[in-house]
Amino acid sequence: MRTPDISKIFGFVPEADFNALRADAEYSNALLHTGQGAGNDFLGWVALPSSITPETLAEVKATAASLREKAEIVIVIGIGGSYLGTKAVLEALQNPFAALDKERRDPTIIFAGHTISEDYMASLMEAVEGRSIASIVISKSGTTTEPAIAFRIIKQEIERRYGAAGAAQRIVAITDRARGALKSVADGAGYKTFVIPDDVGGRFSVLTPVGLLPLAVAGVDVDALVDGAQKMEAATAPSVPFDKNPATIYAAARNALYNKGFKIEILAAYEPGLQYFAEWWKQLYGESEGKQGKGIFPAGVIFSTDLHSMGQYIQEGERILFETVISVAAPHREMKIERADDDGDGLNFLAGRRINEVNRMAELGTMLAHVDGGVPNIRIEIPRIDAASLGGLIYFFEKACGISGYMLGVNPFDQPGVEAYKKNMFALLEKPGYESATAEIKKRL
Ligand code: PA5
Repeated sequence: MRTPDISKIFGFVPEADFNALRADAEYSNALLHTGQGAGNDFLGWVALPSSITPETLAEVKATAASLREKAEIVIVIGIGGSYLGTKAVLEALQNPFAALDKERRDPTIIFAGHTISEDYMASLMEAVEGRSIASIVISKSGTTTEPAIAFRIIKQEIERRYGAAGAAQRIVAITDRARGALKSVADGAGYKTFVIPDDVGGRFSVLTPVGLLPLAVAGVDVDALVDGAQKMEAATAPSVPFDKNPATIYAAARNALYNKGFKIEILAAYEPGLQYFAEWWKQLYGESEGKQGKGIFPAGVIFSTDLHSMGQYIQEGERILFETVISVAAPHREMKIERADDDGDGLNFLAGRRINEVNRMAELGTMLAHVDGGVPNIRIEIPRIDAASLGGLIYFFEKACGISGYMLGVNPFDQPGVEAYKKNMFALLEKPGYESATAEIKKRL
């Protein structure tokens, strides 16, 4: 990955304002390493890539091999940081039409526990009928309602099919070292377990077994993913000067824009496989920065698809948006547009040219149009979409998020606001212990 191209923010932010943030970005980066900042009990992710041991990777791969052998479908149960990283990498790397491939050997990964939709759950259970299944259940707290409900249903199905002993071979739990209901259930049933380190929060956990195990099951090269992250860890170290450090540049650029009133950041990509990468990024930045009445609102789009839906707003709506583009230098495949004798569609001017050339010109044309329309642009280029680039990108965004959160003056590693809906939901469901809240909340409906 190259350092972010921030040249297209300077029509909107004086260079002096950006330069004024350099020292703060470097200081904030150092804080992540010295552990002197807010939320310093959740900094385990900072040195995570370089501290993943060969033994951990070997254990992940051995467990993945065992699940691959047993199941055509592996159901990954989790919500938020316990599933988005896996989904992001998987969608980016998988053939989008893998489901149609009859020769396919890798198990199909499907997700549960990220929604409480009855239709979704019922359809999932119907879809796995007659197919061999296994499950990876992921919850750091071990008490989150959405995955707990899904796990109860899937566990019962696995036990019904394979018995308790069979279930113990087909269920892997990834959770806290000691606490939470999931840990007790897993220990009681004798499931294989992996630990989410105490000092790694959910949204920073994709490079722990939370992401590595399901990705290895899916056949992703997790060594390359970790390798890419390790290189980025070195490239964003506090010893790397500001102008060469992609994380400090990006963090300073987005804070300079925020200070000028650009309150919404749109992560844009021109590859549909990156849609869930944007979802992962949205959670990372939204949960880390959106607090105390502050924070950039993170949004995601896939172009050119969304130029036909959100494009109008981005071009001409409220001028509070800036765009960060993940630009992919080269596709994996090659396909050209052929000449047509009649040229009925008028496309012969493209004959012999690659589809990707059109995509690139759409990207460059859009960047200039949006800048002209009042939308500052940051461009982050990766060579191609592969495991190493994604590992690098994941760590880059995590590092920049920690720096950016400190620059904003918030604790980027907590999420107190997530509790509000849970309290109301439990009160409405009449959960034991919520009796007085139940009486109060019912009056409000
Ligand atoms: O980033 C976070 O901490 C959250 O998004 C969690 O990952 C999410 O709430 C799921 O929590 P848990 O893994 O405890 O079930």
